[in-house]
Amino acid sequence: MDIKVAASAPEKQTNACLVVALHSGKKLTGICAKLNEQSEKAISRAIKRDDVKSDIGQSLMLHELKNIASDRVLLAGAGVANDASRAQYRKYCATIASAVKASGANLVIVHLEKSVFVEGETPAWHAQHLAQQLIESTYEFTLHSKKKKSAAKIKKCIIVVGKSDVRACTSAVKTGVAVANGQALARDLGNLAPNICTPVYLAKQAQDLAKATPKLTTKTLTEAQMAKLGMGAFLSVSRGSRQEARLICMEYKGGDKKKKPIVLLGKGVTFDTGGISIKSSAAMDEMKFDMCGAASVFGAMKAICELLPKCNVIGVVAAAENMPDGDASRPGDVVTTMSGQTVEILNTDAEGRLVLCDSLTYIERYKPAAVVDIATLTGACVVALGKVSSAIMSNDDALANTLYNCGQSTGDLAWQLPLWDEYQTQLDSNFADMGNIGGSPAGAITAGCFLSRFAKNYKWAHLDIAGVAWKGGSEKGATGRPVPLLMDFVLNNA
Ligand code: BES
Ligand code: MN
Ligand code: ZN
Repeated sequence: MDIKVAASAPEKQTNACLVVALHSGKKLTGICAKLNEQSEKAISRAIKRDDVKSDIGQSLMLHELKNIASDRVLLAGAGVANDASRAQYRKYCATIASAVKASGANLVIVHLEKSVFVEGETPAWHAQHLAQQLIESTYEFTLHSKKKKSAAKIKKCIIVVGKSDVRACTSAVKTGVAVANGQALARDLGNLAPNICTPVYLAKQAQDLAKATPKLTTKTLTEAQMAKLGMGAFLSVSRGSRQEARLICMEYKGGDKKKKPIVLLGKGVTFDTGGISIKSSAAMDEMKFDMCGAASVFGAMKAICELLPKCNVIGVVAAAENMPDGDASRPGDVVTTMSGQTVEILNTDAEGRLVLCDSLTYIERYKPAAVVDIATLTGACVVALGKVSSAIMSNDDALANTLYNCGQSTGDLAWQLPLWDEYQTQLDSNFADMGNIGGSPAGAITAGCFLSRFAKNYKWAHLDIAGVAWKGGSEKGATGRPVPLLMDFVLNNA
């Protein structure tokens, strides 16, 4: 979909849909009032018939109004003028997207009127989120079936804004489109079948991304190279799999050479059976989504390659498959990590932290300004925060707060959990420096505590995305979260 910003709607319109805000209150306002006059009160009559309400989330498609160039006019409920929250504005955008998508229109003209604006946010913010949602709503997964899905009909969108806002909104729309494209890549990778999307496949993804710009280079470590570095924890996870593990590094250099990079580290377990501590078979197919942290890193790197911000970002993916096998790790095995600390593997299903801990040690070489790891790490996180919010755990409250704010601004919500020392003792082991599990109380936090022991030398935050990365049931599929949050974080740093 091609999205443009303009100060006025085009006169020539074929197969178009004009979108206008309908506010509550007796009198029609803004463009809505104007169209009402032009169309000899068609809008007032629809309201009188009770065909449409002005609540956010409601909408009505009107066809072939008198004296109006567009074939369709979508009245989008916008609530009380100037009173929307960010979440309500996003709902407003989503309503527009789904109504337009359900129509046959291939040109959408959205009048972004000041009256729907969220207090404190700029017109550019509004334009960016509208663009992002329009693209997001057209996502379809098509990589595994030749059957034609509903071919995307909306070809073009024009967002009409005030003259003085055109410049800022144009650049914001570019950002929104890049974020949405990155999110779509993250969804594609998450949705791909686990027999296709293997660690080696992910390494190939990195190479493909690097073709987009010379500012991105990639380097991938094989199992032999990881063994030389002493990554005993990482390698213990892939032992039982025929698929070789990979540590994939993507280095984006868009800023000053001396500027320390942000490192994004993603858990890329391409399939998690649990290993010898095997999971029950119900819904085990969903464990193909256990690489969604990695997918969000690829999504962010793709958006970065599109926008070329002036900053340095390293995307790292810890890719492995967790399988049971005669050579798989056993509960009770002790492994030595790259940091020198030893770990008693009490449960082979707590594998994410094992691939991440050695990766956290490895990335010290980048001398990061900050590290954010992203992982579908614990079922306990889903219990704590549901499918609504990611969990943030950090050794730096300012960093945690920054990420929280990125969540608030993008709607890609995240909430901080504590990493107090009082929780650390749950990781005590009788036989090694630590166990890899902390028992069932506070399972998301003890997983964070485990990682914190390998992230002492830089500012670090951990995002547990087990609840938000995918949906189950009839809507089964990857969400592409938290690409919006990560991109907000990266771009605020540029
Ligand atoms: N990938 C899972 C976490 C997970 C489970 C995400 C269910 C989403 C839904 C992770 O590798 C895992 O198995 N974690 C265990 C840890 C436990 C053994 C300490 C879990 O959460 O049960
Ligand atoms: Mn597991
Ligand atoms: Zn896992």
